[in-house]
Amino acid sequence: MAADDFIANKWTQLAGLKNGPVSAESYRSPAFYQLERERVFGRSWLIMGRVEEIARPHSFMVKEIEICEASVLITRDGEGRVQAFHNVCSHRHNLLVSEPQGCSQLIKCPYHGWAYGTDGELRGVPDEKCFVGLDRKTAGLAKIATEVWNGWIFINLERKPSVSLEDFLGDFGSFLANMEYPNADNPIVVEAQLNCNWKVVADAFSESYHIPVIHPETIGTTFASTSNRTGRLMDARFFGPHRFCSMYGNPEYRPHDHQKVEQLAYSQVQTGSTIAAGKVGSMDAFLAHPSVNPTRTKSWSMDVNFVFPNFNLDTGPGGFWTHHFWPTSYHTTRHEVRFYVPKALSVRERFQQEHYLSRVVEVLVEDVSNVARVQRGLESGAKEAMYLQDNEALLRHSVHHVEKWAQSATVQEAMSE
Ligand code: FES
Ligand SMILES: [Fe+2]
Repeated sequence: MAADDFIANKWTQLAGLKNGPVSAESYRSPAFYQLERERVFGRSWLIMGRVEEIARPHSFMVKEIEICEASVLITRDGEGRVQAFHNVCSHRHNLLVSEPQGCSQLIKCPYHGWAYGTDGELRGVPDEKCFVGLDRKTAGLAKIATEVWNGWIFINLERKPSVSLEDFLGDFGSFLANMEYPNADNPIVVEAQLNCNWKVVADAFSESYHIPVIHPETIGTTFASTSNRTGRLMDARFFGPHRFCSMYGNPEYRPHDHQKVEQLAYSQVQTGSTIAAGKVGSMDAFLAHPSVNPTRTKSWSMDVNFVFPNFNLDTGPGGFWTHHFWPTSYHTTRHEVRFYVPKALSVRERFQQEHYLSRVVEVLVEDVSNVARVQRGLESGAKEAMYLQDNEALLRHSVHHVEKWAQSATVQEAMSE
């Protein structure tokens, strides 16, 4: 970057935000957490997963939204329709399904045996004659508003969502529309319980300023270089409460001579970054999407697409991967990561994938090993505010919008410009 086109607060300005310290309260306040429950998670459209997870008719999956005390049953019925219901039996409200996924035309409650179809209808009641006045039509499972968008299953826990999914996504929907998702049917899931507020871990995956410091041995020289020592962003964009950035990648990166294992794996991907699972040539359609590396820079490692409030869709040279940040209390989080990898067709490909996975999991461990320290520091109350630099503009944008939703009586107000 030439010295004369440097603007110290370029991304912050683009986000429509002012410089200056950012309050730490939303990261450590139990009272704020209650507002997040009702006004952020209780009113937003939330991504539950992809349609490939319930590909077959009568397949279903259960997802927990701890912050809202909701257990959600997502089904594909015999006609192929995807719907979400509360995973709660109508009889005496036992949790209906206990396994994370399954496939069956009838879903039976393990308490007294009431049975439901994958369309949510009540199908069977043992000794039904003794239930006087029971109307099966109104005793089906409680529906949750559901939309499928580009293969992503969204739900909204408001009985009548205040905003349509289309309006909720706004211009971010147009930005991401029609993206292809390679290997979407083959996720490798990594889940961790973390001792930090959900925004602490979301922040760790929304900036690259920390990379040369926390990850010197793993990705320190792929996400930074002598020409970009602190991993300054290549691009950032903001769409209402949603956000995007492109992170720098060192195009000169090559494994060192002594890194024989990586050299062997690298020869399979040749992307300038080992953060890639797909082979060169197999990702062309995906990489051609105008919103994958939209500036078409050669110095590119990956993009972050953050769907408000808690979903991070990452895109890189080898495909996509995702993070869910599920709050379980004001200072604990369930972090779910999914890496979507090709099905290996040869030993070489298998080797490359194993290398990729061990590398990304090593990076993940470096990130999540630090989050409890941040939370301890925040909760010490030593400081009122955090100092954020321009390349941390996504974090500033996150706090701004979470606070705005928490403070707004209506979703219309929360989403107003
Ligand atoms: S609670 Fe489900 S059958 Fe009784
Ligand atoms: Fe990191």
